[in-house]
Amino acid sequence: MTADTIISVSTISDLRIAVEAWRGCGETIALVPTMGGLHAGHLALVEAARRLCRRTVVSIFVNPTQFGAGEDFESYPRDMARDREMLANLGVDLIYAPSAAEMYPGGVATEVRVSKLGEGLCAVQRPHHFPGVATVVAKLLGQCRPHVALFGEKDYQQLLVIRRLARDLDLDVEIHGVPTVRESDGLAMSSRNAGLSANGRAVAGRLNHLLGDVARRIAAGDAVAEALARGRDALIDLGFEAVDYLELRDAETLALLDEATRPARLLAAVHIDGCRLIDNITLVSGGDMY
Ligand code: PAJ
Repeated sequence: MTADTIISVSTISDLRIAVEAWRGCGETIALVPTMGGLHAGHLALVEAARRLCRRTVVSIFVNPTQFGAGEDFESYPRDMARDREMLANLGVDLIYAPSAAEMYPGGVATEVRVSKLGEGLCAVQRPHHFPGVATVVAKLLGQCRPHVALFGEKDYQQLLVIRRLARDLDLDVEIHGVPTVRESDGLAMSSRNAGLSANGRAVAGRLNHLLGDVARRIAAGDAVAEALARGRDALIDLGFEAVDYLELRDAETLALLDEATRPARLLAAVHIDGCRLIDNITLVSGGDMY
């Protein structure tokens, strides 16, 4: 398939015609929701989708409702020709790229909010974010009716919010998490990395190593609160401009943990060069990392 021949639709009715035809033939459908600006992290989701289902749909929609005032909605990378080519090379069956008018005719009266999981961590600095994400993902799942939908562990809180909304709203879909894809120095791939200066990029590459150091300290028996406090100081010493959070949370409920007695996740959000970067790693009971 070439970028010219891959099917791309922009309306819900055209999307439904395609997916209902596949469903009618008994074919399984995977949906990979994205905001475009595709990189190897997104492509890992597409590859996993291709392994899990007969048909793969990738949605590309820069969702305005999940960006706050002063965030990067306007400057978010948009390059449909490049995205199309990358997806065609991977054998994607359909691109769904709706306009904002198609997605929100008459605005948003109904909003999906996931309590607890959708609070704390990124929701503290970005309170509008998860309601925007949860609402658009519920709509995308309703529009496409996939058997499986895939999301990255890089956005760990987002993955858990979406799992919970699918369960609570009885959406008949399996939410599949995909491990974070990283650059060779460990930096989690993100469309926002392109906005970093050479120095900022070098500093950003230290985030994942710092998370590993803190996790190892906790595994070695250091008190969690002290290990986290030292970690926050170390991030500033490394050159990050601000630390929104560095926290140890239960891997399923995201409850705050003061000891690593059950499956846990170490999560961080930091600022460098005016970009906000997030990352997380996993710990298991006994402190081992996997
Ligand atoms: P976007 O940032 O484009 O990411 C789309 C998907 O790719 C998300 O599930 C995200 O977790 C995953 N992803 C991004 N970088 C990754 C990496 N380095 N490794 C693995 N997966 C990665 O997340 C969104 O869009 C939006 O919030 C969306 C879910 C599409 C709703 O608008």
